[in-house]
Amino acid sequence: MPSILIVDDDAVLNRSLSKLFNKNGYRVTAVNSQMEAIASLERDIFDLVLTDLRLGAGSGLEVLSSSKKLHPETEVIIMTAFGSVQTAVQAIQNGASDYITKPFKNQELLFKATKSLEQIGLRNEVRHLRQEVADRFGFDNIISTSKVMAELKRIVDRVAGTDISVLITGESGTGKELFAKVIHQHSPRCNKPFVTINCSAIPENLLESELFGHVKGAFTSAIANKRGLFEEAEHGTVFLDEVGDLPYSIQAKMLRVLQEKEIRPVGGNITRPIDVRVIAATNADLVKSVRQGRFREDLFYRLNVMPLHIPPLRERPEDIPPLTEHFLGRIQREYKRCPATLSADAMELLLKHDWPGNVRELENTLKRAVALTRNNQILHEDIVFISPRESQMTPEPEPISGNHSLQENQKLQILKSLHENNWNYSLTANRLGIGRTTLWRKIKKYNLRQPADFVASRSQG
Ligand SMILES: Nc1ncnc2c1ncn2[C@@H]1O[C@H](COP(=O)(O)OP(=O)(O)OP(=O)(O)O)[C@@H](O)[C@H]1O
Ligand SMILES: [Mg+2]
Repeated sequence: MPSILIVDDDAVLNRSLSKLFNKNGYRVTAVNSQMEAIASLERDIFDLVLTDLRLGAGSGLEVLSSSKKLHPETEVIIMTAFGSVQTAVQAIQNGASDYITKPFKNQELLFKATKSLEQIGLRNEVRHLRQEVADRFGFDNIISTSKVMAELKRIVDRVAGTDISVLITGESGTGKELFAKVIHQHSPRCNKPFVTINCSAIPENLLESELFGHVKGAFTSAIANKRGLFEEAEHGTVFLDEVGDLPYSIQAKMLRVLQEKEIRPVGGNITRPIDVRVIAATNADLVKSVRQGRFREDLFYRLNVMPLHIPPLRERPEDIPPLTEHFLGRIQREYKRCPATLSADAMELLLKHDWPGNVRELENTLKRAVALTRNNQILHEDIVFISPRESQMTPEPEPISGNHSLQENQKLQILKSLHENNWNYSLTANRLGIGRTTLWRKIKKYNLRQPADFVASRSQG
């Protein structure tokens, strides 16, 4: 129930306004003077203040300024008599959200009140979302115990506050995007946009206009001016993901943008200044690309002011246990599963694996394990590795009925059945009601493999 403070020295109007807002679901406090209004503001917090401009000896402007001082979040609407619009304009400049000229229709006033309240809702939502993002991209969200990662975090802490270009390198799934977001979140730009540009995902012929925008008529389908991603990131951060795939034809233009800090929309002949911080990432060997003439050396140096290399997970196995704990907690919370622990030999399996898909592969493997486990403990046979190339789709613990792609469901169903039948193909095929050859083909297709240690322990036993 929104609350409103009505301030008007006209007793009749005051009463009728109270009735109106009451009827429309507001909690109403009504007073007749500036002094009473300020006393109310000191006692209570309102969503909305509706005040007349002229209040006998007092002034609505004073009510406005007290309200803004005491509760900046409270919206204020000013009522004015015809002819005092000039003062109303001043009120808006002093922070009133709107004004209404007497006499007015009830509907008009209610409409303005609703709009002001929406403003509060939006502001709260934005604040809430910002907080959520801030919570997700704090330093604590980079889980690690290894020395190398601690050192990386230390560097990030130092460079985040500057405008230095950072080039993040590392294999797929090592956390490059996570680092980029943490840097943005700890920079003065954190309340401005973070715009990801995936340089390999946008077709070359569209890339320039996607990046820098275009003017109407620049090409056949350019029916209106369009802002590019750089402009959308104004005052924020541009994350150039897979920068190694940036077509050679665009590299020179990119360099110019970064050096001159201005963009020229496609088809336009006027440049516009632009203020963005650039973070780039790649899992390719850019030095090699430079040597091979596929990547401009000058652009490489411009991007690589602060290099940040995230080592693969296999080179920092001490990060595996804390990451495992982190992901298990998250998966269980997300899917409302009972907390499962990990058996010692399951952990050993995780520690020995070489993780070509790095942290992302670990997360997916754990999601599968939670889906497969029949106990409160994840055993080594619940750990099934699928090479990252084959498991592009993320498996989820509610596979059979969820809104997953058919293939993904089938893959998990087969995996589950294999698992339950100790990887006996005949039994599994039987249970699934398909032929052995079909099963075998599916196993090849999905690249399903029995956990190696499971085989070993069974053949020994
Ligand atoms: N140290 C870490 N702590 C917690 N989560 C991590 C860590 N490293 C990576 N992750 C998580 O692993 C997943 C993959 O990370 P991210 O997308 O940042 O990798 P990437 O290097 O950008 O991969 P790619 O090259 O495939 O785009 C994300 O869900 C990310 O949050
Ligand atoms: Mg990435």
